[in-house]
Parts: sequence; C-alpha cells; structure tokens
Amino acid sequence: MIHESRHPLVQHKLTLLRNVTTEPKKFRELIRELALLLCYEATADLAIREIPVQTPLATAVGHELLDKIGLVPILRAGLGMVEGIWELMPSSEVWHIGLYRDEKTLQPVSYYNKLPTLPTVQVCLVLDPMLATGGSAVAAVDVLKRWGAERIKFVGILAAPEGIKMLQTAHPDVPIHVAKIDARLNEVGYILPGLGDAGDRQFGTG
Ligand code: PRP
Ligand code: URA
Repeated sequence: MIHESRHPLVQHKLTLLRNVTTEPKKFRELIRELALLLCYEATADLAIREIPVQTPLATAVGHELLDKIGLVPILRAGLGMVEGIWELMPSSEVWHIGLYRDEKTLQPVSYYNKLPTLPTVQVCLVLDPMLATGGSAVAAVDVLKRWGAERIKFVGILAAPEGIKMLQTAHPDVPIHVAKIDARLNEVGYILPGLGDAGDRQFGTG
C-alpha cells in the first residue's frame, strides 16, 4: 500500500525542501518537520488498549499504545527524520542501519548494524527521505524481518515509481508513506525532479 500525503502543510514544506537555494540549516528543519507530519499519518492505525486515567475530578477512559515502536533511520540521510518523530513518541527505541548506494552499481552496501539477537520492538518505522531504486529500503526491511520485527512501515519524503515497485514486490506487507511520488529516476539513479542528494544537503557535504 502506498500513501502519498495530501496534507497542505506537507506540500508547502516539501516545496521549500526541494528549492536549490534552501541552505542546510533550513533543509534540516524541514526534514524534521516533514518527518513529524508524515509519521502522524503513518501511525494512524497503531494498536491501543484502554486504560483508566484519574483526572482531578473523576476517572476517565484513557488509552495507551500496545506495541513497542522502533525508529530505524537508514544512515546517513534518515538521521534527520529521527529527532521530530522521537519527540512525538519519546518511548520508542532508535536502531540505526548503515547503508550506502554504490555510485556505479546503485546496489546498497551495508556498513552498520548493531541490532541485538532478539527483537525488542513490534513495530518498526524505517526512516529514509529518498526511495529511489528501492535497493536500500529493501535491504533495510530484509534486515528487520530477519531480526523478527512483526510490523514494518517505510516512511520517506520522496519516492520514484521504480523504488515503490521494487519495495512493494519484495515486501508487499510493508506500507509506504511519502510526501510525494515523483516522476522517475535519471540515468544515475537520482529522483526527478527530486531534491538532489538528501544526505549532502542535510550535512553540508555536497
Ligand atoms: C540515499 C538515500 C537512500 C538511498 C536511496 O542514501 O538516503 O538511503 O540513497 O537510494 P536507493 O533507493 O536507490 O537505494 P546514500 O546512498 O546517498 O547514502 P547517504 O545517506 O549516506 O548519503
Ligand atoms: N539519494 C538521494 O539522496 N537522492 C536521490 O535523488 C536518490 C538517492
């Protein structure tokens, strides 16, 4: 299932994010804010259970999240998506997965994974602003499934149709939440019109 946000705030902020003149400080702020808004949409179906809560006046019916949530940013560009979401869900765990795309083959190369042997969360939100060929997202979900994560969602900012197809084919059970589905990939695997290199633009390394 692919969810493309229709929220006006998301579309407004995405336009600022794409703009070539947006500096890294502003770019990081926008990634943080967009991640928060997209996470709000992506978590709309999380399971909750009823618990009583004592107000100053009476007992009310309250709710708490049933599942333990894991935020899984794909290094490096996914890092900027963690902070805002973590504020929204402070009891979630953050598990980093290090992957980069080989520039020539566009294949994902794994360089960091410190997941413990047994899963510690039930729901994983894979965070990466860019779903381009889909190779990195598929590799990250492969790792989480081998770990034993029960439910996995992908939360990104831009997706190319090629990446959506690849992720949906490999992992049809993983819903994809993005701000926008763009037109296509260019000849070197960048999303068009896109926003350029999400890692370089956040960290000022372009
Ligand atoms: C970017 C992006 C994704 C990946 C997407 O990371 O953040 O992880 O490319 O491309 P794919 O869908 O074709 O796999 P990159 O490899 O540039 O690493 P970085 O975040 O460290 O800059
Ligand atoms: N990674 C990026 O940062 N941007 C793209 O357009 C594709 C992959």
